[in-house]
Amino acid sequence: MPPPGTVLKRLADLPDPGGAPAEYEPLPVLVLRAGDVVRAYVNVCPHAGRPLCLPSGRTLVSEGHVVCPFHGASFDIESGACTGGPAGRTGLKPVPVKVEAGKVVAL
Ligand code: FES
Repeated sequence: MPPPGTVLKRLADLPDPGGAPAEYEPLPVLVLRAGDVVRAYVNVCPHAGRPLCLPSGRTLVSEGHVVCPFHGASFDIESGACTGGPAGRTGLKPVPVKVEAGKVVAL
């Protein structure tokens, strides 16, 4: 996990609603936003281990869910729970964060 205090993303660089990979190399992290809800998860889909965003970083977010671009599994942004598709009941692995001074920071 990123050490506490690590800046993962500037809020201004996050689409709303949407998501983007974090600027953090040791672990792939995806930061997601839907209004006031900001969450981060390990950027690995539990279905087949692919990233949850496209190679460009574009992330498919709709109505509070992030959709894996590879086979369409969907996950609730707020909880990381799987809500449809081939990932079964396996949810996303959370990376605890807070928003502080316009930045998404690891806890
Ligand atoms: S890798 Fe995400 S749905 Fe298959």
